Amino acid sequence: MAAPERISEVSMQAGAELSETGVLPELLSRLACPACVSTELTATADRLKCTQCDTEFPVYRNGNADIPWLFSDPESTLLEWKSRLNGFLHNNWAEQTKLRKAKKSKSLGALTKNRLSLLLEGRMTQRIQVSELLAPLDLECVNFDKGRDPASLLRSRVPKAQGLSSYYNNIFRDWCWDNGENEQQFEALKSVVSDIAAATLGATLTLGAGSGRLAYDIHRTFNPKLSVAIDINPLLMFAASKVMFGESVPLVEFPVAPLNEAAFAMNQECFAPKPLAKDAKFAFLFADGLNPPCADASFDTVITPWLIDIIPQNLRDFALSVNRLLPTGGQWINTGSLAFFHKDIMQCLSEEEAFEQIEKCGFEIIATDRRRIPYLQSPLSAHWRTESVLSFCARKTHDVEETRLFRHLPAWLIDTSSAVPGLQEFSVASSDHLLRAQILAAIDGKRSIDDIGTSLAREYGLKQAEAQNAVRRILMDLYETQAQGTPDGMQDLG
Ligand SMILES: C[S@@+](CC[C@H](N)C(=O)[O-])C[C@H]1O[C@@H](n2cnc3c(N)ncnc32)[C@H](O)[C@@H]1O
Ligand SMILES: [Zn+2]
Repeated sequence: MAAPERISEVSMQAGAELSETGVLPELLSRLACPACVSTELTATADRLKCTQCDTEFPVYRNGNADIPWLFSDPESTLLEWKSRLNGFLHNNWAEQTKLRKAKKSKSLGALTKNRLSLLLEGRMTQRIQVSELLAPLDLECVNFDKGRDPASLLRSRVPKAQGLSSYYNNIFRDWCWDNGENEQQFEALKSVVSDIAAATLGATLTLGAGSGRLAYDIHRTFNPKLSVAIDINPLLMFAASKVMFGESVPLVEFPVAPLNEAAFAMNQECFAPKPLAKDAKFAFLFADGLNPPCADASFDTVITPWLIDIIPQNLRDFALSVNRLLPTGGQWINTGSLAFFHKDIMQCLSEEEAFEQIEKCGFEIIATDRRRIPYLQSPLSAHWRTESVLSFCARKTHDVEETRLFRHLPAWLIDTSSAVPGLQEFSVASSDHLLRAQILAAIDGKRSIDDIGTSLAREYGLKQAEAQNAVRRILMDLYETQAQGTPDGMQDLG
Protein backbone atom coordinates (compact mmCIF):
# COMPACT_ATOMS: atom_id res chain seq x y z
CA MET A 1 0.00 0.00 0.00
CA ALA A 2 1.31 3.45 -0.93
CA ALA A 3 2.73 5.57 1.86
CA PRO A 4 0.52 8.52 2.79
CA GLU A 5 1.54 11.59 0.83
CA ARG A 6 0.03 14.43 2.77
CA ILE A 7 2.22 14.38 5.84
CA SER A 8 4.10 17.63 6.28
CA GLU A 9 7.86 17.62 6.05
CA VAL A 10 8.04 19.90 9.06
CA SER A 11 6.33 17.48 11.34
CA MET A 12 8.43 14.64 9.96
CA GLN A 13 11.51 16.62 10.97
CA ALA A 14 10.06 17.31 14.39
CA GLY A 15 9.53 13.60 14.76
CA ALA A 16 13.08 12.85 13.80
CA GLU A 17 14.38 15.27 16.43
CA LEU A 18 12.18 13.92 19.10
CA SER A 19 13.87 11.93 21.75
CA GLU A 20 13.02 13.34 25.15
CA THR A 21 9.26 12.77 25.18
CA GLY A 22 9.58 9.30 23.75
CA VAL A 23 6.57 9.84 21.45
CA LEU A 24 7.31 7.66 18.44
CA PRO A 25 8.39 9.75 15.43
CA GLU A 26 6.13 7.54 13.31
CA LEU A 27 3.19 8.73 15.42
CA LEU A 28 4.19 12.38 15.59
CA SER A 29 4.48 12.61 11.83
CA ARG A 30 0.84 11.54 11.47
CA LEU A 31 -0.70 13.94 13.96
CA ALA A 32 -2.66 17.12 13.35
CA CYS A 33 -3.47 19.75 15.96
CA PRO A 34 -7.01 19.13 17.24
CA ALA A 35 -7.44 22.88 17.83
CA CYS A 36 -6.46 24.23 14.38
CA VAL A 37 -5.81 21.15 12.19
CA SER A 38 -2.22 22.16 11.47
CA THR A 39 0.15 19.23 11.09
CA GLU A 40 3.01 21.28 12.46
CA LEU A 41 3.49 19.87 15.91
CA THR A 42 6.79 19.98 17.69
CA ALA A 43 7.87 18.04 20.73
CA THR A 44 9.62 19.28 23.85
CA ALA A 45 10.51 17.36 27.00
CA ASP A 46 7.00 16.70 28.30
CA ARG A 47 4.65 18.15 25.71
CA LEU A 48 3.73 18.61 22.10
CA LYS A 49 3.17 22.11 20.80
CA CYS A 50 1.31 23.36 17.76
CA THR A 51 3.47 25.96 16.02
CA GLN A 52 0.39 27.45 14.32
CA CYS A 53 -1.94 28.12 17.25
CA ASP A 54 0.56 27.65 20.14
CA THR A 55 -1.66 25.16 21.97
CA GLU A 56 0.41 22.88 24.17
CA PHE A 57 -0.53 19.27 24.78
CA PRO A 58 0.86 17.35 27.76
CA VAL A 59 2.54 14.01 27.21
CA TYR A 60 2.07 11.56 30.09
CA ARG A 61 4.66 8.95 30.88
CA ASN A 62 3.16 5.70 32.06
CA GLY A 63 5.60 2.84 32.45
CA ASN A 64 7.27 2.45 29.08
CA ALA A 65 4.71 4.53 27.20
CA ASP A 66 4.63 8.27 26.52
CA ILE A 67 1.06 9.19 25.74
CA PRO A 68 0.08 12.57 24.27
CA TRP A 69 -3.12 14.19 25.57
CA LEU A 70 -4.25 15.53 22.22
CA PHE A 71 -7.61 17.19 22.82
CA SER A 72 -8.57 20.57 21.34
CA ASP A 73 -8.72 22.11 24.82
CA PRO A 74 -6.40 19.91 26.89
CA GLU A 75 -7.11 21.59 30.25
CA SER A 76 -10.88 21.41 29.91
CA THR A 77 -10.66 17.74 29.05
CA LEU A 78 -8.49 17.16 32.12
CA LEU A 79 -11.13 18.94 34.22
CA GLU A 80 -13.75 16.63 32.73
CA TRP A 81 -11.84 13.54 33.83
CA LYS A 82 -11.11 15.11 37.18
CA SER A 83 -14.83 15.43 37.76
CA ARG A 84 -15.35 11.84 36.62
CA LEU A 85 -12.67 10.64 39.03
CA ASN A 86 -14.32 12.66 41.81
CA GLY A 87 -17.65 11.05 40.93
CA PHE A 88 -16.03 7.62 41.17
CA LEU A 89 -14.39 8.47 44.52
CA HIS A 90 -17.65 9.84 45.85
CA ASN A 91 -19.60 6.71 44.89
CA ASN A 92 -16.85 4.48 46.20
CA TRP A 93 -17.00 6.33 49.52
CA ALA A 94 -20.81 6.13 49.66
CA GLU A 95 -20.54 2.38 49.11
CA GLN A 96 -17.93 2.05 51.85
CA THR A 97 -20.15 4.03 54.23
CA LYS A 98 -23.12 1.79 53.47
CA LEU A 99 -21.02 -1.33 54.09
CA ARG A 100 -19.57 0.00 57.36
CA LYS A 101 -23.07 0.79 58.60
CA ALA A 102 -24.36 -2.65 57.60
CA LYS A 103 -21.43 -4.32 59.38
CA LYS A 104 -22.46 -2.69 62.67
CA SER A 105 -25.80 -4.46 62.65
CA LYS A 106 -26.13 -6.73 65.72
CA SER A 107 -27.84 -9.68 64.12
CA LEU A 108 -25.24 -10.53 61.48
CA GLY A 109 -24.37 -14.15 60.79
CA ALA A 110 -20.75 -15.13 60.21
CA LEU A 111 -21.25 -15.53 56.44
CA THR A 112 -22.88 -12.13 56.06
CA LYS A 113 -20.18 -10.50 58.15
CA ASN A 114 -17.57 -12.09 55.92
CA ARG A 115 -19.29 -10.97 52.72
CA LEU A 116 -19.59 -7.39 53.93
CA SER A 117 -15.95 -7.37 55.03
CA LEU A 118 -14.82 -8.70 51.65
CA LEU A 119 -16.81 -6.04 49.85
CA LEU A 120 -15.57 -3.26 52.10
CA GLU A 121 -11.97 -4.30 51.73
CA GLY A 122 -12.51 -4.58 47.97
CA ARG A 123 -13.91 -1.06 47.69
CA MET A 124 -11.07 0.34 49.83
CA THR A 125 -8.44 -1.38 47.70
CA GLN A 126 -10.13 -0.42 44.47
CA ARG A 127 -10.13 3.25 45.49
CA ILE A 128 -6.36 3.15 45.90
CA GLN A 129 -5.80 1.14 42.72
CA VAL A 130 -7.87 3.43 40.49
CA SER A 131 -6.28 6.55 42.00
CA GLU A 132 -2.82 5.08 41.44
CA LEU A 133 -3.57 4.17 37.83
CA LEU A 134 -4.66 7.76 37.14
CA ALA A 135 -1.74 9.29 39.07
CA PRO A 136 0.23 10.28 35.91
CA LEU A 137 -2.50 12.84 35.10
CA ASP A 138 -1.90 14.58 38.44
CA LEU A 139 -5.59 15.51 38.51
CA GLU A 140 -5.43 16.96 42.02
CA CYS A 141 -3.42 19.84 40.61
CA VAL A 142 -5.87 20.48 37.77
CA ASN A 143 -8.18 23.34 38.69
CA PHE A 144 -10.72 25.52 36.99
CA ASP A 145 -9.01 28.71 36.00
CA LYS A 146 -11.40 31.60 36.78
CA GLY A 147 -10.57 33.38 33.52
CA ARG A 148 -11.64 30.35 31.50
CA ASP A 149 -14.74 30.54 29.37
CA PRO A 150 -17.19 28.02 30.91
CA ALA A 151 -18.28 27.08 27.37
CA SER A 152 -14.81 25.57 26.83
CA LEU A 153 -15.72 22.94 29.40
CA LEU A 154 -18.88 22.06 27.50
CA ARG A 155 -17.07 21.89 24.18
CA SER A 156 -14.78 19.28 25.75
CA ARG A 157 -17.53 17.41 27.49
CA VAL A 158 -17.36 13.65 27.23
CA PRO A 159 -20.82 12.04 26.84
CA LYS A 160 -22.40 11.15 30.18
CA ALA A 161 -22.47 7.47 29.21
CA GLN A 162 -18.66 7.39 29.03
CA GLY A 163 -17.86 7.13 32.72
CA LEU A 164 -14.47 6.41 34.19
CA SER A 165 -15.54 2.90 35.13
CA SER A 166 -18.03 2.25 32.30
CA TYR A 167 -15.78 -0.41 30.74
CA TYR A 168 -13.97 -1.51 33.90
CA ASN A 169 -14.78 -5.17 33.28
CA ASN A 170 -13.13 -4.98 29.85
CA ILE A 171 -9.78 -4.77 31.63
CA PHE A 172 -10.37 -8.21 33.20
CA ARG A 173 -11.67 -9.66 29.94
CA ASP A 174 -8.62 -8.35 28.07
CA TRP A 175 -5.90 -9.22 30.56
CA CYS A 176 -7.09 -11.57 33.26
CA TRP A 177 -9.91 -14.03 32.68
CA ASP A 178 -8.15 -16.07 30.00
CA ASN A 179 -11.48 -17.69 29.11
CA GLY A 180 -11.04 -17.76 25.32
CA GLU A 181 -13.11 -14.63 24.67
CA ASN A 182 -10.22 -12.61 23.31
CA GLU A 183 -9.24 -15.43 20.98
CA GLN A 184 -12.80 -15.73 19.65
CA GLN A 185 -13.03 -11.99 19.15
CA PHE A 186 -9.74 -12.01 17.27
CA GLU A 187 -10.91 -14.91 15.09
CA ALA A 188 -14.05 -12.92 14.19
CA LEU A 189 -11.92 -9.99 13.10
CA LYS A 190 -9.45 -12.20 11.23
CA SER A 191 -12.27 -13.74 9.23
CA VAL A 192 -12.79 -10.46 7.33
CA VAL A 193 -9.11 -9.73 6.78
CA SER A 194 -7.69 -11.50 3.74
CA ASP A 195 -4.13 -12.83 3.89
CA ILE A 196 -3.00 -10.06 1.57
CA ALA A 197 -4.70 -7.40 3.64
CA ALA A 198 -3.19 -8.84 6.82
CA ALA A 199 0.28 -8.58 5.30
CA THR A 200 -0.31 -4.94 4.31
CA LEU A 201 -2.07 -3.45 7.31
CA GLY A 202 0.59 -0.72 7.27
CA ALA A 203 0.09 2.06 9.78
CA THR A 204 -2.90 0.90 11.82
CA LEU A 205 -5.12 3.08 13.96
CA THR A 206 -7.57 1.58 16.46
CA LEU A 207 -10.29 4.03 17.50
CA GLY A 208 -11.89 3.45 20.92
CA ALA A 209 -9.26 0.81 21.70
CA GLY A 210 -10.30 0.65 25.37
CA SER A 211 -8.04 -1.59 27.42
CA GLY A 212 -6.41 -2.60 24.18
CA ARG A 213 -6.41 -6.38 23.81
CA LEU A 214 -7.60 -6.49 20.21
CA ALA A 215 -5.07 -3.86 19.11
CA TYR A 216 -2.37 -5.86 20.92
CA ASP A 217 -3.42 -9.17 19.28
CA ILE A 218 -3.43 -7.48 15.87
CA HIS A 219 0.01 -6.03 16.50
CA ARG A 220 1.49 -9.32 17.65
CA THR A 221 -0.07 -11.41 14.91
CA PHE A 222 0.10 -9.17 11.84
CA ASN A 223 3.11 -7.06 12.82
CA PRO A 224 1.92 -3.83 11.14
CA LYS A 225 4.55 -1.17 10.69
CA LEU A 226 2.83 0.95 13.36
CA SER A 227 -0.09 0.46 15.74
CA VAL A 228 -1.76 3.43 17.39
CA ALA A 229 -4.49 2.97 20.01
CA ILE A 230 -6.80 5.94 20.60
CA ASP A 231 -9.25 6.29 23.46
CA ILE A 232 -10.65 9.00 25.70
CA ASN A 233 -10.67 6.96 28.89
CA PRO A 234 -7.49 7.32 30.96
CA LEU A 235 -8.24 4.39 33.27
CA LEU A 236 -8.42 1.95 30.35
CA MET A 237 -5.48 3.42 28.47
CA PHE A 238 -3.16 3.54 31.47
CA ALA A 239 -4.05 -0.04 32.37
CA ALA A 240 -3.47 -1.08 28.73
CA SER A 241 -0.14 0.67 28.36
CA LYS A 242 1.21 -0.79 31.60
CA VAL A 243 0.11 -4.31 30.87
CA MET A 244 1.26 -4.41 27.23
CA PHE A 245 4.78 -3.43 28.17
CA GLY A 246 5.11 -6.11 30.81
CA GLU A 247 3.73 -4.69 34.07
CA SER A 248 1.12 -6.49 36.08
CA VAL A 249 -1.87 -4.37 37.13
CA PRO A 250 -3.72 -5.42 40.29
CA LEU A 251 -7.44 -4.59 40.32
CA VAL A 252 -10.41 -5.75 42.35
CA GLU A 253 -13.21 -7.33 40.31
CA PHE A 254 -16.84 -7.03 41.44
CA PRO A 255 -18.72 -9.54 39.26
CA VAL A 256 -22.27 -8.75 38.15
CA ALA A 257 -23.71 -11.89 39.77
CA PRO A 258 -21.07 -13.42 42.06
CA LEU A 259 -21.06 -17.23 41.95
CA ASN A 260 -20.17 -17.60 45.61
CA GLU A 261 -19.05 -15.58 48.59
CA ALA A 262 -15.38 -15.37 47.62
CA ALA A 263 -16.38 -13.96 44.22
CA PHE A 264 -18.04 -10.83 45.64
CA ALA A 265 -14.77 -8.89 45.54
CA MET A 266 -11.85 -10.67 43.96
CA ASN A 267 -8.28 -9.41 43.86
CA GLN A 268 -7.17 -9.95 40.27
CA GLU A 269 -3.87 -9.52 38.47
CA CYS A 270 -4.02 -8.22 34.91
CA PHE A 271 -1.08 -8.92 32.62
CA ALA A 272 -0.25 -9.56 28.98
CA PRO A 273 0.43 -13.14 27.84
CA LYS A 274 3.62 -11.89 26.21
CA PRO A 275 4.72 -8.28 26.71
CA LEU A 276 5.63 -6.15 23.72
CA ALA A 277 9.31 -5.33 23.22
CA LYS A 278 10.31 -1.97 24.67
CA ASP A 279 10.94 -0.64 21.17
CA ALA A 280 7.72 -2.03 19.69
CA LYS A 281 6.03 0.30 17.20
CA PHE A 282 2.92 0.46 19.34
CA ALA A 283 1.73 3.87 20.53
CA PHE A 284 -1.14 5.20 22.62
CA LEU A 285 -2.94 8.48 22.10
CA PHE A 286 -5.52 10.18 24.30
CA ALA A 287 -7.81 11.77 21.74
CA ASP A 288 -11.37 12.06 20.52
CA GLY A 289 -11.93 9.27 18.02
CA LEU A 290 -14.85 11.19 16.54
CA ASN A 291 -12.53 14.07 15.59
CA PRO A 292 -9.23 12.17 15.33
CA PRO A 293 -6.27 14.57 15.52
CA CYS A 294 -4.54 12.92 12.60
CA ALA A 295 -3.48 14.18 9.19
CA ASP A 296 -5.55 13.28 6.12
CA ALA A 297 -4.70 9.84 4.72
CA SER A 298 -2.25 9.26 7.54
CA PHE A 299 -3.18 5.63 8.28
CA ASP A 300 -3.43 2.62 5.99
CA THR A 301 -5.89 0.78 8.23
CA VAL A 302 -8.49 2.00 10.70
CA ILE A 303 -9.98 -0.47 13.17
CA THR A 304 -13.17 0.20 15.12
CA PRO A 305 -13.91 -2.50 17.70
CA TRP A 306 -17.26 -2.16 19.49
CA LEU A 307 -17.40 1.54 18.80
CA ILE A 308 -19.74 2.57 15.99
CA ASP A 309 -22.96 1.95 17.89
CA ILE A 310 -21.99 3.48 21.25
CA ILE A 311 -21.00 6.91 19.96
CA PRO A 312 -23.35 9.90 19.68
CA GLN A 313 -22.17 10.60 16.11
CA ASN A 314 -24.28 9.10 13.34
CA LEU A 315 -22.74 6.39 11.16
CA ARG A 316 -22.58 8.58 8.06
CA ASP A 317 -20.51 11.31 9.72
CA PHE A 318 -18.31 8.74 11.43
CA ALA A 319 -17.70 6.91 8.13
CA LEU A 320 -16.74 10.21 6.48
CA SER A 321 -14.25 10.82 9.25
CA VAL A 322 -12.73 7.34 8.78
CA ASN A 323 -12.58 8.01 5.04
CA ARG A 324 -10.50 11.14 5.65
CA LEU A 325 -7.93 9.19 7.66
CA LEU A 326 -7.29 6.68 4.87
CA PRO A 327 -5.67 6.90 1.42
CA THR A 328 -7.65 5.41 -1.47
CA GLY A 329 -7.19 1.65 -1.14
CA GLY A 330 -6.89 1.91 2.66
CA GLN A 331 -9.09 -0.35 4.73
CA TRP A 332 -11.57 0.05 7.54
CA ILE A 333 -12.06 -3.03 9.69
CA ASN A 334 -14.94 -3.07 12.11
CA THR A 335 -16.13 -5.60 14.65
CA GLY A 336 -18.79 -5.45 17.36
CA SER A 337 -22.51 -4.99 17.75
CA LEU A 338 -24.90 -2.74 15.85
CA ALA A 339 -27.13 -1.80 18.77
CA PHE A 340 -27.45 1.90 17.96
CA PHE A 341 -29.00 4.04 20.67
CA HIS A 342 -29.48 7.36 18.87
CA LYS A 343 -32.42 9.50 19.94
CA ASP A 344 -33.18 9.95 16.28
CA ILE A 345 -34.75 6.67 15.19
CA MET A 346 -33.58 7.38 11.62
CA GLN A 347 -30.02 6.82 12.79
CA CYS A 348 -30.59 3.45 14.45
CA LEU A 349 -29.63 1.59 11.29
CA SER A 350 -30.11 -2.03 10.32
CA GLU A 351 -27.13 -4.03 9.09
CA GLU A 352 -28.28 -3.49 5.50
CA GLU A 353 -28.70 0.27 5.96
CA ALA A 354 -25.31 0.47 7.67
CA PHE A 355 -23.57 -1.17 4.70
CA GLU A 356 -25.42 1.08 2.26
CA GLN A 357 -24.42 4.13 4.25
CA ILE A 358 -20.77 3.08 4.42
CA GLU A 359 -20.66 2.51 0.65
CA LYS A 360 -22.12 5.99 0.10
CA CYS A 361 -19.23 7.36 2.13
CA GLY A 362 -16.55 6.24 -0.34
CA PHE A 363 -16.05 2.59 0.62
CA GLU A 364 -16.75 -0.81 -0.86
CA ILE A 365 -17.55 -3.59 1.57
CA ILE A 366 -15.21 -6.44 0.72
CA ALA A 367 -15.90 -8.97 3.48
CA THR A 368 -18.47 -9.48 6.23
CA ASP A 369 -18.97 -12.00 8.99
CA ARG A 370 -21.60 -12.63 11.65
CA ARG A 371 -20.92 -15.01 14.50
CA ARG A 372 -22.06 -15.54 18.04
CA ILE A 373 -19.29 -15.06 20.55
CA PRO A 374 -19.07 -14.78 24.34
CA TYR A 375 -19.06 -11.28 25.77
CA LEU A 376 -17.76 -10.33 29.23
CA GLN A 377 -18.13 -13.83 30.62
CA SER A 378 -16.43 -13.46 33.95
CA PRO A 379 -15.57 -16.89 35.39
CA LEU A 380 -16.70 -15.45 38.75
CA SER A 381 -20.16 -14.45 37.59
CA ALA A 382 -23.43 -16.30 37.08
CA HIS A 383 -24.45 -13.69 34.53
CA TRP A 384 -23.14 -14.34 31.02
CA ARG A 385 -23.77 -12.60 27.77
CA THR A 386 -23.28 -13.69 24.19
CA GLU A 387 -23.40 -11.43 21.16
CA SER A 388 -23.90 -12.00 17.49
CA VAL A 389 -20.99 -9.92 16.35
CA LEU A 390 -20.84 -8.19 12.99
CA SER A 391 -17.40 -7.77 11.44
CA PHE A 392 -16.65 -6.16 8.11
CA CYS A 393 -13.76 -4.96 6.06
CA ALA A 394 -14.37 -1.98 3.78
CA ARG A 395 -11.91 -0.62 1.24
CA LYS A 396 -11.77 3.10 0.53
CA THR A 397 -12.63 3.74 -3.12
CA HIS A 398 -12.54 7.53 -3.24
CA ASP A 399 -12.32 10.71 -1.19
CA VAL A 400 -15.51 12.29 0.06
CA GLU A 401 -16.40 15.75 1.29
CA GLU A 402 -14.52 17.17 4.24
CA THR A 403 -15.92 16.08 7.60
CA ARG A 404 -17.33 18.59 10.02
CA LEU A 405 -16.10 18.94 13.56
CA PHE A 406 -18.33 16.73 15.69
CA ARG A 407 -19.66 17.94 19.04
CA HIS A 408 -22.24 15.88 20.81
CA LEU A 409 -23.71 18.89 22.64
CA PRO A 410 -25.81 21.27 20.50
CA ALA A 411 -24.76 24.91 20.01
CA TRP A 412 -27.61 26.28 22.18
CA LEU A 413 -26.22 24.42 25.21
CA ILE A 414 -22.73 25.81 24.69
CA ASP A 415 -23.59 29.37 23.62
CA THR A 416 -25.82 30.63 26.42
CA SER A 417 -27.11 33.54 24.32
CA SER A 418 -28.81 31.32 21.70
CA ALA A 419 -32.47 30.38 21.96
CA VAL A 420 -33.30 27.06 23.63
CA PRO A 421 -35.46 25.09 21.17
CA GLY A 422 -38.90 23.95 22.32
CA LEU A 423 -38.14 20.25 22.07
CA GLN A 424 -40.91 17.76 22.69
CA GLU A 425 -38.86 16.04 25.41
CA PHE A 426 -38.79 19.33 27.35
CA SER A 427 -42.57 19.72 27.39
CA VAL A 428 -43.03 16.08 28.44
CA ALA A 429 -40.38 16.50 31.16
CA SER A 430 -41.96 19.76 32.26
CA SER A 431 -45.39 18.30 33.06
CA ASP A 432 -43.78 15.21 34.58
CA HIS A 433 -41.54 17.28 36.87
CA LEU A 434 -44.43 19.55 37.82
CA LEU A 435 -46.49 16.56 38.89
CA ARG A 436 -43.58 15.04 40.80
CA ALA A 437 -42.89 18.36 42.55
CA GLN A 438 -46.54 18.65 43.56
CA ILE A 439 -46.70 15.12 44.92
CA LEU A 440 -43.45 15.50 46.83
CA ALA A 441 -44.57 18.85 48.26
CA ALA A 442 -47.76 17.20 49.51
CA ILE A 443 -45.84 14.68 51.63
CA ASP A 444 -46.01 15.73 55.28
CA GLY A 445 -45.53 12.40 57.04
CA LYS A 446 -49.32 12.12 57.63
CA ARG A 447 -51.03 12.06 54.25
CA SER A 448 -51.55 8.73 52.46
CA ILE A 449 -51.42 7.99 48.72
CA ASP A 450 -55.25 8.15 48.81
CA ASP A 451 -55.18 11.63 50.40
CA ILE A 452 -52.67 13.01 47.91
CA GLY A 453 -54.55 11.36 45.04
CA THR A 454 -57.81 13.00 46.15
CA SER A 455 -56.41 16.53 46.02
CA LEU A 456 -54.69 15.81 42.71
CA ALA A 457 -57.95 14.44 41.25
CA ARG A 458 -59.76 17.58 42.34
CA GLU A 459 -57.15 19.90 40.88
CA TYR A 460 -56.79 18.21 37.50
CA GLY A 461 -60.35 16.91 37.08
CA LEU A 462 -59.08 13.29 37.13
CA LYS A 463 -60.85 10.16 38.27
CA GLN A 464 -59.88 9.24 41.85
CA ALA A 465 -58.38 5.88 40.83
CA GLU A 466 -56.39 7.49 38.03
CA ALA A 467 -54.88 10.09 40.35
CA GLN A 468 -54.04 7.50 43.03
CA ASN A 469 -52.35 5.38 40.44
CA ALA A 470 -50.24 8.31 39.25
CA VAL A 471 -49.18 9.16 42.81
CA ARG A 472 -48.24 5.57 43.57
CA ARG A 473 -46.33 5.18 40.29
CA ILE A 474 -44.23 8.27 40.91
CA LEU A 475 -43.49 7.41 44.55
CA MET A 476 -42.68 3.80 43.69
CA ASP A 477 -40.34 4.93 40.95
CA LEU A 478 -38.47 7.25 43.33
CA TYR A 479 -38.38 4.61 46.06
CA GLU A 480 -37.02 1.89 43.77
CA THR A 481 -34.39 4.12 42.21
CA GLN A 482 -33.08 4.98 45.68
CA ALA A 483 -33.27 1.43 46.94
CA GLN A 484 -31.59 -0.37 44.06
CA GLY A 485 -29.03 1.91 42.42
CA THR A 486 -25.82 0.15 41.38
CA PRO A 487 -22.87 1.36 43.41
CA ASP A 488 -20.75 3.18 40.87
CA GLY A 489 -21.31 1.91 37.40
CA MET A 490 -18.83 -0.91 37.95
CA GLN A 491 -21.56 -3.33 37.04
CA ASP A 492 -21.97 -1.86 33.58
CA LEU A 493 -21.70 -4.49 30.95
CA GLY A 494 -20.02 -2.23 28.49
C1 LIG B 1 -17.68 -0.65 24.03
S1 LIG B 1 -16.09 -0.06 24.44
C2 LIG B 1 -15.06 -1.03 23.39
C3 LIG B 1 -13.65 -1.08 23.86
C4 LIG B 1 -12.73 -1.94 23.00
N1 LIG B 1 -12.68 -1.48 21.65
C5 LIG B 1 -13.18 -3.38 23.07
O1 LIG B 1 -13.52 -3.94 22.02
O2 LIG B 1 -13.16 -3.93 24.15
C6 LIG B 1 -16.08 1.52 23.67
C7 LIG B 1 -14.75 2.25 23.82
O3 LIG B 1 -14.82 3.48 23.09
C8 LIG B 1 -14.23 4.50 23.87
N2 LIG B 1 -14.78 5.76 23.39
C9 LIG B 1 -16.03 6.27 23.56
N3 LIG B 1 -16.14 7.46 22.95
C10 LIG B 1 -14.94 7.71 22.38
C11 LIG B 1 -14.43 8.79 21.63
N4 LIG B 1 -15.18 9.87 21.33
N5 LIG B 1 -13.16 8.73 21.23
C12 LIG B 1 -12.37 7.67 21.52
N6 LIG B 1 -12.80 6.62 22.24
C13 LIG B 1 -14.06 6.64 22.66
C14 LIG B 1 -14.60 4.14 25.30
O4 LIG B 1 -13.78 4.77 26.23
C15 LIG B 1 -14.41 2.63 25.26
O5 LIG B 1 -13.09 2.27 25.52
ZN1 LIG C 1 -3.02 24.28 16.42
